[in-house]
Amino acid sequence: MLTIALSKGKLIESALDLFRRAGYAIAGLSAESRRLIFVSPEHDMTFLIVRPSDVPTYVEYGGADAGIVGKDVLMEQESDVYEPLDLGFGACRIAVAALQGEEMGVRLSSKVRIATKYPRISERYFNARGIPVEIIKLYGSIELAPVVGLADRIVDLVETGSTLKAHDLMEVEVIARSTARFIVNRASLRLKQEPLMTLIRNLRAVVPSQRMLSDSGRPMILQTRKKKMVRS
Ligand code: PRP
Repeated sequence: MLTIALSKGKLIESALDLFRRAGYAIAGLSAESRRLIFVSPEHDMTFLIVRPSDVPTYVEYGGADAGIVGKDVLMEQESDVYEPLDLGFGACRIAVAALQGEEMGVRLSSKVRIATKYPRISERYFNARGIPVEIIKLYGSIELAPVVGLADRIVDLVETGSTLKAHDLMEVEVIARSTARFIVNRASLRLKQEPLMTLIRNLRAVVPSQRMLSDSGRPMILQTRKKKMVRS
């Protein structure tokens, strides 16, 4: 039995569609349901519906064998998981934005206040540029922060750009691009190699444009971080 963690929210419809096209239609599993766990004896799979930021945690610590989550979340959490497939959907960018007219107005004498739900990505980005920042961690509605004077800049996801526009914000810099990724628990890949490789092959077949990610030519795996895994 494989356990797969799927992200609630923007990625769920595309993730379910991907599984359907790959031959894993799961009766009763829908984005609208309040159920958080769906068992499919037919496919020998269990699906968990969790918050996007929790998907890497479930997969890293073995609560799920695999999952689908945005690259933005993986970059923020630096999770120790295999990342064999770029699924292509959920394309967006992590960008720095500021109020219209204030995009040049960074105060050099004091720290730039950055509101974001990506504190690590933001800190790494500004540190690398030698810009002193104060990170203000928020959990959503990030675009409000500059409007009410809580921050000078935001670092947030931009997909269509309409949320920025609605709040008179403009993109200043793109930090990174993100798409949905299929991730796999390291131990599961050894212990459940056959069903996982079959699943990866079937998913890959219906995402023709995706790249099979690999590092240094090794088949199918990419380490997002080299870290000793602690498993209970
Ligand atoms: C995300 C992101 C932006 C918005 C960008 O928010 O944080 O607010 O989508 O999309 P757009 O460029 O198409 O307007 P989400 O909907 O996940 O909600 P949140 O603000 O609660 O994080």
